[in-house]
Amino acid sequence: MSTRLELSPERAQALAERHGTPFYVYDLDVLRARVGRARALNATLLYAVKANPNLEVLRALRGAVDGLDVASLGELERALACGWAPEQLSFAGPGKTPLELAEAVARGVLVSVESLRELEDLAALAATHSRRARIRLRLNPSLRVQAYRVAMTGGPSPFGIDEEELPLAAAALRRHAQVLDFDGLHVHPGGQCTSVGGFGTAVAATLDLTERLHREHGLVARRVNFGGGFGVLGDGQELDVEAAGQRLEAMLTRYRAATGQALEAVLELGRWLVAPAGLYVARVVSEKRSRGTHFTVLDGGLNHHLGATGLLGPRLPLINLSRPAAPRVTRSVVGPLCTPLDTLGLDVELPEPRVGDLLAVVNSGAYGYSFSPLHFLGHALPAEVLIAGDRDEPRPPGAPPRSPAAS
Ligand SMILES: Cc1ncc(COP(=O)(O)O)c(C=O)c1O
Repeated sequence: MSTRLELSPERAQALAERHGTPFYVYDLDVLRARVGRARALNATLLYAVKANPNLEVLRALRGAVDGLDVASLGELERALACGWAPEQLSFAGPGKTPLELAEAVARGVLVSVESLRELEDLAALAATHSRRARIRLRLNPSLRVQAYRVAMTGGPSPFGIDEEELPLAAAALRRHAQVLDFDGLHVHPGGQCTSVGGFGTAVAATLDLTERLHREHGLVARRVNFGGGFGVLGDGQELDVEAAGQRLEAMLTRYRAATGQALEAVLELGRWLVAPAGLYVARVVSEKRSRGTHFTVLDGGLNHHLGATGLLGPRLPLINLSRPAAPRVTRSVVGPLCTPLDTLGLDVELPEPRVGDLLAVVNSGAYGYSFSPLHFLGHALPAEVLIAGDRDEPRPPGAPPRSPAAS
């Protein structure tokens, strides 16, 4: 089973006729196969909903992964609506509102605490509601791991409590032990890491903090959430998840032997699980030559897929679904918007696109639909189409229709 989505010209055409263009397509078999590979991590595996909050994706992952990482009340409610239990959810984010914290505490959702202020707010809230809040301390280690192309630790950060404040956080945990049930630590080192060595460096830094918390402050972490950030690049390079699993296992074995603690690992992956399971498909509606550049114009672009423009990182590869064997040519591929930012490929090589062809942006299952300014210029919303290998995915009984608004 391939662990990236591929579509034959006939299948792409059939989907385009059925759903109109542009559309996103997600292959749930590919997603399940990637989850199967990620099981090599031998850890509690959470899915980071922000990567793709499509309801059918969330339903398909029930029973496949162990829980979800949510980042808002909206994501929390989507998760519950898809049948996830509150105790399977972990809630992180630097701007949780009093309402969000109250809902999390009332429902028994684990909260990743991002600051000393939030720790105090949560303790007060739990006391008021006579509930014990399950928490992990999200930390911002002083080490920045450069292997994460989008590194999120090491500097000043809205995410997590600075390592230097560990003594204050430990004192607050002890003070509020009656209302705060301390589960362990959480460190999300950043995004787009494709190096097992880089992952190991981040794990080592987090384990150091876990050990320090015990040695210096007497607090034992039951679990440590090592975050997400497993990379998938456009050129096919991705983090070797099986090798990462071996590295993690060896490090945990050493840690357990040295400390006598039965520490459990948690990971919360988004992009790695879902990006290769999706394509964004648009039709060529026009072409033009201008001062030596040959433009191919699609019926969708930045409005549906901000990440495909290179504004957030490297551009994603484009493929010609309709005629993959056509002679390769150089084209600049643009969307229909009135801004030069709407460029999906600048002088890229691809099988010659003709008006009417279907082109696709690969690795579009993550940070696509929900990460884009969908209403800009009032173009129709793209459909989100679910397939499972060569079958159209049947809708589960009672599930709402697959309208874009419902996903
Ligand atoms: C706290 C947290 N966990 C997990 C993720 C998922 O990251 P990725 O999709 O790179 O695996 C993110 C992404 O921003 C995050 O902020």
